Amino acid sequence: MQTCVLLLLAFCFPVMLNALAPEEGGSISLMLGCGLDEGGGKDSEGRQWSPDNKYLSEETNSKTCRSSFQDPSLLSEVPYMTTRIFTSEATYKFPLQPDKRYWLRLHFYPSIYDTFDPFNSYFSVTANDVTLLSNFSASITCQALSQAYLDREYSLAPLNSDTLTLTFKPEKRNGSFAFVNGIELIEMPELFDSAPLVGYSDQTMDAKSLHFQTMFRLNVGGQFISPKDDSGLSRTWYDDTPYLYGASTGVTNQATKDVIINYKTMPQYIAPPNVYSTSRSMGSNKDVNMGFNLTWIFQIDPNSMYLTRLHFCEYYYDKLNEIVFNIYINNQTAETEADVIGWTGAKGVPTYKDYIIYVKNEIGDDQLWLALHPTPTTSPEFFDSLLNGVEVFKLNDTNLSGPNPQPSDMLIEHEEKTKTFQDKHNGKKTFVIGSAAGGAAGFALVAAIVFVVNNQKKKKSPGSYTASNWLPIYGNSHTAGTKSSESGKSVGSGNLSVMAQGLCRYFSLQEMKQATKNFDESNVIGVGGFGKVYKGVIDNGFKVAIKRSNPQSEQGVNEFQTEIEMLSKLRHKHLVSLIGFCEEDDEMCLVYDYMARGTMREHLYKGNKPLDTLSWKQRLEICIGAARGLHYLHTGAKYTIIHRDVKTTNILLDENWVAKVSDFGLSKTGPNMNQGHVSTVVKGSFGYLDPEYFRRQQLTEKSDVYSFGVVLFEALCSRPALTPNLPKEQVSLAEWALYNKRKGTLDDIIDPNIKGQINPESLKKFTDTAEKCVSDFGFERPSMNDLLWNLEFALNMQQNPDGSAHASPLKEDEFEEVSLENNDMTAHYKNLGLGNEHELSHESSSDNTAAIFSQISNSKGR
Ligand SMILES: *[C@@H]1O[C@H](CO)[C@@H](O)[C@H](O)[C@H]1NC(C)=O
Ligand SMILES: *[C@@H]1O[C@H](CO)[C@@H](O)[C@H](O)[C@H]1NC(C)=O
Ligand SMILES: *[C@@H]1O[C@H](CO)[C@@H](O)[C@H](O)[C@H]1NC(C)=O
Ligand SMILES: *[C@@H]1O[C@H](CO)[C@@H](O)[C@H](O)[C@H]1NC(C)=O
Ligand SMILES: *[C@@H]1O[C@H](CO)[C@@H](O)[C@H](O)[C@H]1NC(C)=O
Ligand SMILES: *[C@@H]1O[C@H](CO)[C@@H](O)[C@H](O)[C@H]1NC(C)=O
Repeated sequence: MQTCVLLLLAFCFPVMLNALAPEEGGSISLMLGCGLDEGGGKDSEGRQWSPDNKYLSEETNSKTCRSSFQDPSLLSEVPYMTTRIFTSEATYKFPLQPDKRYWLRLHFYPSIYDTFDPFNSYFSVTANDVTLLSNFSASITCQALSQAYLDREYSLAPLNSDTLTLTFKPEKRNGSFAFVNGIELIEMPELFDSAPLVGYSDQTMDAKSLHFQTMFRLNVGGQFISPKDDSGLSRTWYDDTPYLYGASTGVTNQATKDVIINYKTMPQYIAPPNVYSTSRSMGSNKDVNMGFNLTWIFQIDPNSMYLTRLHFCEYYYDKLNEIVFNIYINNQTAETEADVIGWTGAKGVPTYKDYIIYVKNEIGDDQLWLALHPTPTTSPEFFDSLLNGVEVFKLNDTNLSGPNPQPSDMLIEHEEKTKTFQDKHNGKKTFVIGSAAGGAAGFALVAAIVFVVNNQKKKKSPGSYTASNWLPIYGNSHTAGTKSSESGKSVGSGNLSVMAQGLCRYFSLQEMKQATKNFDESNVIGVGGFGKVYKGVIDNGFKVAIKRSNPQSEQGVNEFQTEIEMLSKLRHKHLVSLIGFCEEDDEMCLVYDYMARGTMREHLYKGNKPLDTLSWKQRLEICIGAARGLHYLHTGAKYTIIHRDVKTTNILLDENWVAKVSDFGLSKTGPNMNQGHVSTVVKGSFGYLDPEYFRRQQLTEKSDVYSFGVVLFEALCSRPALTPNLPKEQVSLAEWALYNKRKGTLDDIIDPNIKGQINPESLKKFTDTAEKCVSDFGFERPSMNDLLWNLEFALNMQQNPDGSAHASPLKEDEFEEVSLENNDMTAHYKNLGLGNEHELSHESSSDNTAAIFSQISNSKGR
């Protein structure tokens, strides 16, 4: 027990330990930045990295270099920008405790170093007798993963030696060399024991003596966790969304604040509380849940053993047989009747389960499937399943290396395009970079700089907003003053800023009940993650939509507050307006404009059948309206706001068919102050998600542009973004449309109801634009500005096929002014003391104009 505590302490302070020179017999914790100078350096998390030279063997020939290019995805220079290069076999020697397990992490940034092109670098790495890498190309691996850098993590079983000899050996081929940017060697507790062997009933395998390579480590249903936020073992946990299979991805859950993760006898270093306090489950519909498996798919090397560690914690239910499910790994049953409460005995208590599986070397054996399905036979109370975290490790006693991944043809093609794009636009070829990500980065860097400039212009701490910048406070709204301060207390958390409360009207619960006939079911017009949406009537006849939160969901509270904060600051003709909110007795409601004609989707198709309600011209107008709303979010507000969940059900239509973007519950203000992107948990809807967001978990407004491209194709083809029951190549609308566009067969998939009415020029403009929107790389996609211009052009071609008039986005203002005259909402806002919509929405529109045109001319030049 005592040692356990000591260990824990040791792992809580790796930085401190690192400051001490490792001594014989002491536990060591090394973080070496290869090629760093005497003083070492700090990484983005403030962790100190030391130089590596004193661990190099004397006879070693090596050279230190510095990269001339910092990819924007590198959050700090340390440890990636400097490297040590070996042109012949070389060794490091580290002191070791012979009976302890160690993390060994190797960091690689394949960039050009002096005359060394990482493209030529192939090498092997061994740790004593264990082969970690062979014929390894960091460059190809990064290219295939579409990353700029690579972190490899190994967990070495006790080596029965007091020295670790780490050997780098270049392959025998022309010009080959080995390199490494960072090495971490950290003593760790024994995390592994024996585990059942899947597919062999009652057999277990001892994992204690095996070496591990971490393949995946995911915080299921939760966020990215950085090494610093790990529970002492400096691990990185990623979001699980990119690994989910199919369209049925379940729902994510988060423990409420009052739940304390109680580790009982389990050491906290197994996984941090953040892993256990979020989860993914299937949802609340039994019939739906019985019809699918909640499935994750992982790419792995065949012909090897894998240990899958599943982390569980139930923080909602607390009885046996409430949620009972089966676990399948690679289509074999790993566990039947898994009942988390059965395992832990109480809610809030975490646990984990290990399963070992052998993956053969046959065609198609390069994937690991993990699937969960409710067990019907025990008649559980809810037909659901649950997972909080997953780790996948490759196991071996001598050789952990695998082949280099094969970059897909599509990626290689993109890389070519990227290079030519770069050449054209930079006009110079100072660096030719061997990886797709690195190549893309050349441009991204420019974008990042623009962002920073933008930010500085826009930056203002939220506290420095004053309501009077925006709105007269309250005006004549009779309910305001006292009630809202009361409600401020009732939140308890005090998260809802006074400002936001000042910006919109406060409704009492009584008013909400009156408006909806006591939340009568007959008034329900929709159901979302947040809760039900009701139709209601306020102020003697003014129609509103009332979103009522499900009081149980903590996520609801956050999104509720986000939404109030966001929406109360945003007013625009093409955004659904928030009129007010109610917060009383644990009830939370948001009150919006009522959108008489519902969602865009319900006018395009029903099920998989196209509907004949909208003409091509109407569809164009709706798309343009929605694009204006998004454009305003991206550029018009004080912060750049990324919607994150652009889809046809979030584009609503009022009685005059005016499109308005809704649902900002997921929105993020971005880009973050220090980077050109928001690094965040992937949220949003499948079928609409930006692939770049997957690869890098980085969000930019171009993620919205991608989703909007899918919306454009939806408007053209009248089918859902994802149709899982179609043949594989047709499942995703974006892919299927692109495929047809490139093959020249787009005509075949256009909605037959409108095919005959579309002017060919208009179609061409529209589809070219949609195609650009769904480009793989954000920088290839148009800005919302550019997009708007193109859509206006398409509309113009439809209306004036002879080309007599040209669209101009500058007309937008006139157009809006005119339409405001007839807008009865203006009057209503005045009544509510919310001021005039127009004066609220045009905070900064002129400073984008120059950008519009420069971007248009650029994109035409391609
Ligand atoms: C290695 O490359 C150089 C120059 O590219 C070439 O002259 C030489 O013949 C090559 N050697 C081998 C063994 O391929
Ligand atoms: C270890 O790796 C070797 C070579 O890759 C492979 O043949 C062997 O099956 C692996 N052993 C286990 C236990 O996975
Ligand atoms: C599991 O089964 C699915 C379909 O039933 C199949 O597509 C998939 O390839 C299987 N996975 C493995 C790893 O065998
Ligand atoms: C879930 O996965 C298991 C194992 O691959 C399979 O037998 C079962 O048919 C799947 N169930 C559904 C509904 O897909
Ligand atoms: C280790 O395994 C890899 C891939 O299975 C193989 O190419 C390599 O030759 C092996 N190395 C050793 C030393 O066994
Ligand atoms: C080394 O890796 C490269 C790239 O994956 C591959 O083309 C080559 O055949 C490999 N060489 C050996 C000896 O395995």
